[in-house]
Amino acid sequence: MSDNPFRPSFGRTPPVLAGRDDLVARFADTFTSGAWAPERTSLIRGLRGIGKTVLLNAIEDAARGAGWFVISETARLDLVDSLTRTVLPRLLREHDPDGLTRHLIGGGISSVSLSTRVAEEHRPEQDLRDQLTRLCRVAADQRVGVLITLDEIHGDVVDQIRPLTIALQHLQREEFDVAFVGAGLPGSIDEVLQDKGTTFLRRATLIELDSLTLDETMRALREPIHTAGRTIAAEALEQAALASRGYPFLVQAIGSYAWAESPEEDEITPVAVRAASRRAHRTMGSNIHAPSLTKLSATDRTFLAAMAHDEGPSRLGDVANRMGVETKYASVYRHRLITAGLIDGAGWGKVEFTLPYLRDYLREHVVASTLQRTAKSTFPKTEPDLRRPD
Ligand SMILES: Nc1ncnc2c1ncn2[C@@H]1O[C@H](COP(=O)(O)OP(=O)(O)O)[C@@H](O)[C@H]1O
Ligand SMILES: [Mg+2]
Repeated sequence: MSDNPFRPSFGRTPPVLAGRDDLVARFADTFTSGAWAPERTSLIRGLRGIGKTVLLNAIEDAARGAGWFVISETARLDLVDSLTRTVLPRLLREHDPDGLTRHLIGGGISSVSLSTRVAEEHRPEQDLRDQLTRLCRVAADQRVGVLITLDEIHGDVVDQIRPLTIALQHLQREEFDVAFVGAGLPGSIDEVLQDKGTTFLRRATLIELDSLTLDETMRALREPIHTAGRTIAAEALEQAALASRGYPFLVQAIGSYAWAESPEEDEITPVAVRAASRRAHRTMGSNIHAPSLTKLSATDRTFLAAMAHDEGPSRLGDVANRMGVETKYASVYRHRLITAGLIDGAGWGKVEFTLPYLRDYLREHVVASTLQRTAKSTFPKTEPDLRRPD
């Protein structure tokens, strides 16, 4: 029996990248046509496990396919240093081995003395701009462009993002073919955009990454199974898709566990899918729910726990009552949680969870500890039935 085709871990490209074709095609267009398009500066916003990193990978592949030079980075505290000391020098050596003399000949600097100077007085921001400009020139000579991707953007590294965006702004103004695509959690992207030094990014095309539709989800599950030589009955397929709620992380987890349930059988059965869904929901708890809650304040968590009492959308007034606070006070936390992308407005005065199964997770893990005193009498006695797919 062939190997499990699903890829249930962060950053691993799935066998079928469902529901993102149009997006990737828009990027591919601007790389191949060379025409300027708003996508040339984009920010991808989305929750953990929604598929930001693998989308970045697909965009990078499209750029490479068009011959573009690609710089693929993750936001971190030594970003500018690593770009100027390692990444850009390597790319320049690779694409333009003789370039040092050619581009700097006017200044009469030999390649040896340039590298000595760089080593002696490292000027990260100026070097970043100079090196990127040179790379863009080399790319332009070859009639291609430069794509820079930056994953896991967040507020703590805004000092590193600032010089990069300033350099990008200059390059685009000089009409070089340069594109920038960043990705991060909703709250983190907003934090970076609020910084004064990132005005350039505020004009970026914001791409809100969302869950997949039911059809896209079924395709993401069915095609890899068939390609890898097994089958799945229509009923089992629909159950698996519904249990995933179209959430990409869950799609891969359920697919993978369902495949592994009885690998010696040809067909993946509804029984296997139910077992897989239960397992996947636990994995979702430790990989998505738990880390999504850790950065929140205790009151943010209490707000979410208070919401978990409802079976559907919660009224702000009810949440405030359960928290034992004024509605006005609760609305501050409503706003904070919407910014973090964890809840969404759901009609007048109501809010709902954005992450699938967060309600169940909170009921099991958080509610008891945060709301014990006030919640005992009102908390529903029945456990959520995770064997039911939806
Ligand atoms: N469009 C998609 N179709 C199917 N699976 C996907 C899709 N996007 C992401 N995945 C899967 O979801 C999981 C999370 O993707 P990842 O890009 O790491 O998310 P993020 O970076 O947003 O946290 C991975 O297992 C990946 O293979
Ligand atoms: Mg990621």
